[in-house]
Amino acid sequence: RKGKTPEEVVKKYLQKVKSPPEEDCTICMEPLGGPSGYKGPGVGPVSRAESVGRLAQCGHQYHFQCLVAMYNNGNKDGSLQCPTCKTIYGVKTGNQPAGKMEYHVIPHSLPGHPDCKTIRIIYNIPPGIQGPEHPNPGKPFTARGFPRHCYLPDSEKGRKVLRLLLVAWDRRLIFSVGTSSTTGESDTVIWNEVHHKTEFGSNLTGHGFPDPGHLDNVLEELRAQGITEDDALME
Ligand code: APR
Repeated sequence: RKGKTPEEVVKKYLQKVKSPPEEDCTICMEPLGGPSGYKGPGVGPVSRAESVGRLAQCGHQYHFQCLVAMYNNGNKDGSLQCPTCKTIYGVKTGNQPAGKMEYHVIPHSLPGHPDCKTIRIIYNIPPGIQGPEHPNPGKPFTARGFPRHCYLPDSEKGRKVLRLLLVAWDRRLIFSVGTSSTTGESDTVIWNEVHHKTEFGSNLTGHGFPDPGHLDNVLEELRAQGITEDDALME
């Protein structure tokens, strides 16, 4: 995207390691003291001095080539996530297909939130053709159950979650293309790792109210995608 090679992106987040510890690289399971176990296209030789790197913020160490291979397996957006502790370097984005996110307030209360109104989010994603960032580029994908309606209490915390969901939408992290665990269908639009409540007045599916922990869970799931209140203030 910014014209950086995968090697340059990975290097940006790494510190040099003079003498690797006597541990295995948890990406390839080979000793950090030896070469990367990853053998694949585009893996050239690296000098010994940069064969192992330490991720600058969390300190976890890997073979440089293993991190490059991992980066190349993702959607190459300039960000990197530590496979051990999930610390995110850069801004993580996803592969959510094009679509629309809208919301409005409806004058009814959700079970468990009697003192406020309700935010309804409407996601709409049409079917389409998979891009290079999807599992089967060039192949069609289906989109079931759209528009999908979701609910949040219109409370201070609910509005905060909404602001962060808007950031997640812009970063293409709400949906993904893959195999639905509910229907088993492949090449279809599926929820990504941020839970939504799709039932309004009842809880027949387990995706309804009341659920006292829901907003905190979602904030935690958003944090795991690299989205915090700071992001909402910035955008
Ligand atoms: N509402 C909200 N979240 C759901 C639902 C639902 N009805 N069903 C599954 N999820 C959550 C799951 O708990 C899981 O965490 O979405 C995540 C991915 O599950 P998949 O079944 O792979 O996702 P998807 O196929 O998109 O969802 C199936 O959700 O909104 C409905 O219309 C949609 O019926 C479809 C169902």
